Order: sequence, then C-alpha cells, then structure tokens
Amino acid sequence: MFTRNVMMAGLLALLSVGGMWNSQAADRSGRTDGYGFGQAATDRDMQKWNIDVTPTGEGLPPGSGTAKQGAAVFAAHCVSCHGPNGQEGPMDRLVGGIGTLSSPKPVKTIGSYWPYATTLYDYVHRAMPFSAPQSLSPDEVYSVVAWLLHQNGIIAEDVVVDAGSLPKIQMPNRHGFVPDPRPDVPKN
Ligand code: HEC
Repeated sequence: MFTRNVMMAGLLALLSVGGMWNSQAADRSGRTDGYGFGQAATDRDMQKWNIDVTPTGEGLPPGSGTAKQGAAVFAAHCVSCHGPNGQEGPMDRLVGGIGTLSSPKPVKTIGSYWPYATTLYDYVHRAMPFSAPQSLSPDEVYSVVAWLLHQNGIIAEDVVVDAGSLPKIQMPNRHGFVPDPRPDVPKN
C-alpha cells in the first residue's frame, strides 16, 4: 500500500510537471489550445493549401493561355507520360473517345468523360506533371488546358482560356451524369 501511494504521488508530480511544461510551451508558441505543438498557420500558409477550383470556376487565379502556347508546355512537361498527341501513353490517354461512352468499348478521357472544363485546371495544377505537381505557373496551366481542350475538338485554337472563359466552355459529357438516386435503379 505504501509503495503504491508513493508511486501514485510520483506519477502525479510527473504529470503536473508535464502540465507546466506544456502550458509554458503553449505560451511561447502563441497558441491557446494548450498543446503547445507547432505554430499558428499564417494566411500565406493557408493559401498554399487553398487551391481548389470549383465547377463554376471559383478559385481560378489570374492568368491566361492559348492552345498554341500550351503545345510548348505539353511538349516540355507532359509528352513523356501522355504521348506526343496526348493519346499514345504510356499513362492515361487524354485525347479522343468523344461519342464512345455508350458504345461497347467506351474510351474515357478528360474530353469524352469529364463534365467540367474547370476541373481540368484544378487537376492539372494540383497533380501534374506527376513528377513535379504544382510546379507550373497559372499561365502554363491555362495554356496546357487550352491545348488539351483544342486537341479534343472542344475549343478553337485561338480561344484565350482564363478565369472568365473557362467556366463557360461546355464539355461534351456535361449532361451525362445523373443525380443520385439513379432513375434507372429501383430503390430497395
Ligand atoms: C511522370 C509521368 C507523368 C507526367 C510527366 C504527366 N502526367 Fe498526367 N498523369 C500521369 C499518371 C500516372 C496519371 C494517372 C493518375 C491517377 O490516376 O491517379 C495522369 C493523369 C492525368 C490526367 C487525368 C486523366 C484522367 O482521365 O483521369 C490529366 C488531365 C493529366 N494527367 C494531365 C497532364 C498534363 C497536362 C501534364 C503536363 C503538364 C502531365 N499530365 C504530365 C502521369 C504523368
């Protein structure tokens, strides 16, 4: 019993020292949550994570590009994985397949399948090139998006793609998605 009490007292003392250390650390870091880890995120820290672009185009940055400019971006940063025309691979095919979705062999690409052109900006900026994501400038992303849309026959070569025009570009499969619950699947 005695040893147990001493042990408990020791443990309590340790816990309270830990608590003191914690609250001092919390004071030093300027945090008020009591844990004392890390540091408060600044607006600049947050901006690096706040990169989503919605279907309606919210979040698109200033900048612009055309398919002509995009051809150079694609040749420099994308060809090695997606092929010279965006069709040859070895990775995902990005061009073609429009009109094949209801055929026995649907070819799903950003052109044939994706419902929003704005998602293309979000995805390319966020994730491509695969080996160096988020390394392209807004002008480079707008340009390569313009090139991909042009290769898919969705826009003309001279269309200037920017925060104003991109949300207005109609993708061929825009109305190919059905809301949940699906009308063709009976409820159980
Ligand atoms: C090192 C190889 C590599 C490079 C370089 C690369 N990609 Fe990709 N890309 C991939 C891979 C792998 C995927 C599939 C990723 C997945 O499914 O998670 C992909 C997927 C994509 C998709 C989505 C395709 C779909 O239908 O879902 C797009 C769009 C795309 N890449 C665009 C680009 C663009 C634009 C560039 C150049 C700026 C680029 N990629 C450079 C490897 C690469």
